[in-house]
Amino acid sequence: MEGGLFSAHKPTYLLLLLHIFLLALLPFKAISSPKTQAEALLSWKNTFYDAPPSLTSWSLTNLNNLCNWYAIVCDQNSEQVSQIDLSNFNIDATLTDFNFAPFLNLTQFNLNGNNFGGPIPSAIGNLSKLTTLDLGNNFFGQEIPVEISKLTKLKYLSFFNNSLTGAIPYQLFNLQNVQFLILGRNNFFFETPGWSKFSGMPSLTYLDLSGNYFHSVFPKFISECRNLTFLDLSENFLTGQIPEQVFTNLGKLEYLNLTNNRFQGPLPSNFPKLKHLHLAVNAFAGPIPEDIGWISGLQRIELHTNSLQGPIPSSIGQLRELQHLDLQMNFLDSSIPSELGFCTSLTYLNLTSNHLEGKIPPSIGQLRGLLYLDLSNNSLNSSIPSELGFCTSLTYLALASNELNGELPLSLSNLTNIIDLSLFANRFTGPLLPSLLSNWTEVVSLQLQHNSFSGNIPPEIGLLRKLDVLYLNDNKFSASIPSDIGRLSVLRSLDLSRNHLSGSIPPTLWNLPHIQSVNLSNNNLNGPFRLRGNFDLSNNNFTPEIQKAPNNSKKHKKVIIGVLVPVCGLSVVAITIALIRMFHKKTKRALKKINSAENFENFESMILQEEVKFTFGEVVKAVDDFHEKYCIGKGGFGRVYKAELLSGQVVAVKRLNMSDSNDIPAINLQSFENEIRTLTNVRHRNIIRLYGFCSRRGCIFLLYEYLERGSLGKALYGVDGVTELGWATRVKVVKGLAHALSYLHHDCSPPNCQQCVARVRFRSPTF
Ligand SMILES: *[C@@H]1O[C@H](CO)[C@@H](O)[C@H](O)[C@H]1NC(C)=O
Ligand SMILES: *[C@@H]1O[C@H](CO)[C@@H](O)[C@H](O)[C@H]1NC(C)=O
Ligand SMILES: *[C@@H]1O[C@H](CO)[C@@H](O)[C@H](O)[C@H]1NC(C)=O
Ligand SMILES: *[C@@H]1O[C@H](CO)[C@@H](O)[C@H](O)[C@H]1NC(C)=O
Ligand SMILES: *[C@@H]1O[C@H](CO)[C@@H](O)[C@H](O)[C@H]1NC(C)=O
Ligand SMILES: *[C@@H]1O[C@H](CO)[C@@H](O)[C@H](O)[C@H]1NC(C)=O
Ligand SMILES: *[C@@H]1O[C@H](CO)[C@@H](O)[C@H](O)[C@H]1NC(C)=O
Ligand SMILES: *[C@@H]1O[C@H](CO)[C@@H](O)[C@H](O)[C@H]1NC(C)=O
Ligand SMILES: *[C@@H]1O[C@H](CO)[C@@H](O)[C@H](O)[C@H]1NC(C)=O
Ligand SMILES: *[C@@H]1O[C@H](CO)[C@@H](O)[C@H](O)[C@H]1NC(C)=O
Ligand SMILES: *[C@@H]1O[C@H](CO)[C@@H](O)[C@H](O)[C@H]1NC(C)=O
Repeated sequence: MEGGLFSAHKPTYLLLLLHIFLLALLPFKAISSPKTQAEALLSWKNTFYDAPPSLTSWSLTNLNNLCNWYAIVCDQNSEQVSQIDLSNFNIDATLTDFNFAPFLNLTQFNLNGNNFGGPIPSAIGNLSKLTTLDLGNNFFGQEIPVEISKLTKLKYLSFFNNSLTGAIPYQLFNLQNVQFLILGRNNFFFETPGWSKFSGMPSLTYLDLSGNYFHSVFPKFISECRNLTFLDLSENFLTGQIPEQVFTNLGKLEYLNLTNNRFQGPLPSNFPKLKHLHLAVNAFAGPIPEDIGWISGLQRIELHTNSLQGPIPSSIGQLRELQHLDLQMNFLDSSIPSELGFCTSLTYLNLTSNHLEGKIPPSIGQLRGLLYLDLSNNSLNSSIPSELGFCTSLTYLALASNELNGELPLSLSNLTNIIDLSLFANRFTGPLLPSLLSNWTEVVSLQLQHNSFSGNIPPEIGLLRKLDVLYLNDNKFSASIPSDIGRLSVLRSLDLSRNHLSGSIPPTLWNLPHIQSVNLSNNNLNGPFRLRGNFDLSNNNFTPEIQKAPNNSKKHKKVIIGVLVPVCGLSVVAITIALIRMFHKKTKRALKKINSAENFENFESMILQEEVKFTFGEVVKAVDDFHEKYCIGKGGFGRVYKAELLSGQVVAVKRLNMSDSNDIPAINLQSFENEIRTLTNVRHRNIIRLYGFCSRRGCIFLLYEYLERGSLGKALYGVDGVTELGWATRVKVVKGLAHALSYLHHDCSPPNCQQCVARVRFRSPTF
């Protein structure tokens, strides 16, 4: 091209000059090539969105200094770029803008951990000297270009964690030198026939095909990759049994991860060199083979969530290097083999949710390095062996939901590192010894509920300064609640219900700064107390003045039902379970009367459902500030107005005049507001939508969906003696109500909304 320009300007000297030029070019060739490489890199860099500051050396002024550029390695002889390592530069660009032509001698190309997107260009197949190509942890898309198979020198090839799709080209198996093939976490797919053209890659030691969409049996070619030490097929849709050949051929395997597939049949186990066996979340069945104990190098075994049956083989005791054993969620039975105590490297042991029975072997005390021990949800029926006290590293101990019995051994006071202790739902008896508590100073969650512990709650409980959750409910604890409980400064949840606690509630309890829920119900507590948020104090013996309250509020209940039902002329059914429930609950907690009018006067609040498009002001305007002509129903408790908004939407407004009824019980306004807020989110076809709520100047306004149906009262009892409803329909109405109620109690989220069943008005089922 330069020759062409030349000839245009100086035609006469063409031949001579061309000759000189070409001569000059020869010695320059080795030098100019780095320059074209530098220029190619620069123009690529110019396409980066926000080039990283560390690449400032990649600049025009530095063109002749290519071999000193950051992230570049040159070949010492040719002074050409041999390696490009841009891993973890957070670069946002594509490879389509990269000119491959000047880099045909590149041996290593690493773009791992950036934001490269777009396709992988087929020109990459020209980099025939590449031994390492790492495009992992980027956003490359589309299919792998088949030209990759021309890179026969490759030893390391990674496309890990991209968005590549389609089939993996079988020609990849030309890459007979490749040792690391990492295609995990993409969107590749295959069904069984897709693998048939693949053949073994003898050099392969590391194969990762995890996290793709392989719907097939175990890919056959893998059993021909006899040098494999690492195999990860996890998170696919692989089915069937593991073929026999796999066991016989893959004798060098050290890491096997088949987690989260649909494999069936017996467990593959006889890989003599195996260190990591991860077969969790599959459908493996049958027993854990006895010969697992001969894989002496095993460090981690994860078999959870399968259908394994039978006992835990005693041979497991030979696994002296075993650190992690997770067998939870299977059908393992019999007792825990005492040989487990020989696995002295164990730090994690999870056998939860099996059918294990019998005793906790005392040999477990030999596991001095154990950090996590979970035997919960089995049928173990011994006492806790005192040897467990030797496991002084334990931070997490769960023995819940068994049939364990007896007293807690004093030796547990040695568990000074314990953070989470759950022994609930067993048959433990005896006292909670002060010396136990005084050493458990790290404990954050202590769950001893549903047992038969007795005696007092020791004041030493106050030493557990990190306690967040304390559940002692459903035991036989007696005497009074120690005031030291007020020292648990980070406690959030306390349940002491269903015990034999007596005396008064220590005042310190009310001052805990982080407390969110307290349940003291079903005890013999008495004396004065203050009402507060989520405190359940029901079924106790609180003092006589306070006990008067229930009588009062029964009257309210009647008033409220008697008053509200007539108001609901608009909807087909109107039920005020809310108020009933709420007031009922408050009676249990003992109500204190306050001057409600005054209180509501100051209570200004407005809650509108999120999707609602109108404002409260528009509603007020639509009914001309509650003009009589918009009133469509009246009752002792208030009036109902029909508001036709500018948008055409029709809304029913119920206006409750609180100052008119002086003996409204004191409801906690904050919790009332919370409950209304929950109700505005309730959706059920048999419940009339509550759009919103507003409290102003002693009035409460409820905004409902407007229904043109008349009143259920009229429908049930008839107008002028003529009934409209047959019995079949009445049954339907009741069923519909039942559905709606059940929904409020069980299905509607947030889950606590059954506690707040408030003024809900029910739409009758369509009939
Ligand atoms: C590749 O390297 C060889 C020898 O080092 C050299 O002869 C050749 O020109 C180089 N090719 C390119 C495109 O730089
Ligand atoms: C590079 O690859 C492309 C497409 O695979 C091909 O057309 C082109 O000729 C190759 N260039 C060189 C310099 O090899
Ligand atoms: C996948 O790559 C993205 C982007 O680099 C990264 O944020 C994410 O952590 C990676 N995921 C895994 C499993 O490595
Ligand atoms: C398999 O691995 C052994 C040693 O690890 C090595 O000597 C041998 O060359 C490898 N086989 C192939 C085909 O790469
Ligand atoms: C095994 O695979 C699962 C699923 O991909 C993964 O979460 C887990 O980390 C892997 N296990 C190990 C030890 O790498
Ligand atoms: C307890 O184990 C059984 C199977 O033995 C299982 O179905 C159940 O979900 C487990 N319960 C919990 C709370 O994990
Ligand atoms: C524990 O259960 C086993 C069998 O499940 C039974 O033989 C044994 O008597 C039980 N032991 C106790 C103390 O209940
Ligand atoms: C044991 O497994 C269960 C179920 O996955 C889990 O809830 C529990 O936290 C695990 N135990 C430990 C100590 O990790
Ligand atoms: C606590 O552990 C030490 C040694 O670890 C042991 O000597 C002592 O007997 C244990 N205490 C109890 C109460 O078991
Ligand atoms: C409390 O723990 C220490 C070790 O930290 C131990 O020596 C002591 O015996 C324990 N206290 C009791 C009462 O066991
Ligand atoms: C308090 O405990 C009792 C009995 O243990 C239980 O029935 C009740 O639902 C609990 N209250 C709250 C608010 O959770």
